Amino acid sequence: MSKKILVLTGGGDAPGLNAVIRGVCKRARKESTQGEPWEVYGSIEAFNGVLNEPQEIIKLTTRKTAGIHVKGGTILKTTNKANPIKFPVVQPDGTTKFFDRSDELVKKLKALNFDAIINIGGDGSQKISKTLFDKGLPMVGVPKTIDNDLSATDVTFGFQTAVQIATDSFDKLVTTAESHHRVMIMEVMGRDAGWIALHTAIAGGAEICLIPEIPYDINKLAKKIEARYKKGRGFVNIVIAEGAKPKAGSITSSAGEKGSEHVRLGGVAYQLSKQLKDAGCKAEIRETVLGHVQRGGTPTAFDRVLASLFGVKAFELVLNKEFGRMVAFKNNTVTSVSLEEATAEYNFLSQNSYLVKSAKGLGISFGD
Ligand code: F6P
Repeated sequence: MSKKILVLTGGGDAPGLNAVIRGVCKRARKESTQGEPWEVYGSIEAFNGVLNEPQEIIKLTTRKTAGIHVKGGTILKTTNKANPIKFPVVQPDGTTKFFDRSDELVKKLKALNFDAIINIGGDGSQKISKTLFDKGLPMVGVPKTIDNDLSATDVTFGFQTAVQIATDSFDKLVTTAESHHRVMIMEVMGRDAGWIALHTAIAGGAEICLIPEIPYDINKLAKKIEARYKKGRGFVNIVIAEGAKPKAGSITSSAGEKGSEHVRLGGVAYQLSKQLKDAGCKAEIRETVLGHVQRGGTPTAFDRVLASLFGVKAFELVLNKEFGRMVAFKNNTVTSVSLEEATAEYNFLSQNSYLVKSAKGLGISFGD
């Protein structure tokens, strides 16, 4: 009898998810030719494939996974609005109530009799992995985040691709800023952490970088811009993370969404533009909100490699029955950490980090 693994992808998608799925399947097939047979299955749209009736669980055959490592998105689909521990149900009056469906999920998963469950996802998904492991399921986690906000791994796939997309866009804005003597504001993703923004600012050579961890002083920014225009070098390029906020103020949310635990961010570039004008900035300002292009398309070679290695490692954790662990990349090698460690701390960008200090050394202003 074959042993069976269930794989799923949860939370926002990230380039590289398919390479992880393929890595698990390839390593399992190799094991099958050498030792005991393994079959890999996928739950469609995170745990919804298990919770929904009828269930949606597909067999991941060679035909389904061949060549998918170069494709963005996830062949298993995903959602960030179906946390089984806090499952949103929209009420007849339009409000949303959250229910704990973890016991129901555990019951259904136990009935399906998988030898292991590999959950590929970010902070929220790994918290779910931990809950399910504590309730007796053979869980293995694989970290995924374009935001680079998991502290238990030095890097994750998706982040590099997002930074590359943002940098390519930034480079294009620089040339038009220079031609028109404009202030260009480019908004990137980063709800609570400014990793994408700062990497893009350094790679692109921004004058100003605004991140959630360092609230900005609008008057200081206005002065910095004025000083640059006075020098006769009349253009400024700004990168701002969607979760950045002024010292006296709050984050800019576009809306609360039905079924979501989070408010939707987006539009902070326009808010900054207005604040600069109110603070007396005379220069012409244009805003660009990159949005979900940062999460789409083909993963960079680095992210394909990392994701493939993560897939292989996840299978090997299963093979060795090392459950309750998450794959991680640390000290230049692929390793694993306990799910407890994986979810203990959020990866904020520290003001004292070498990255922030070096950026300041390059003359990048955080407006602090
Ligand atoms: O966590 C990843 C992320 O891309 C955040 O940076 C962003 O705030 C959020 O997802 C956007 O989510 P959605 O796809 O629901 O708009």
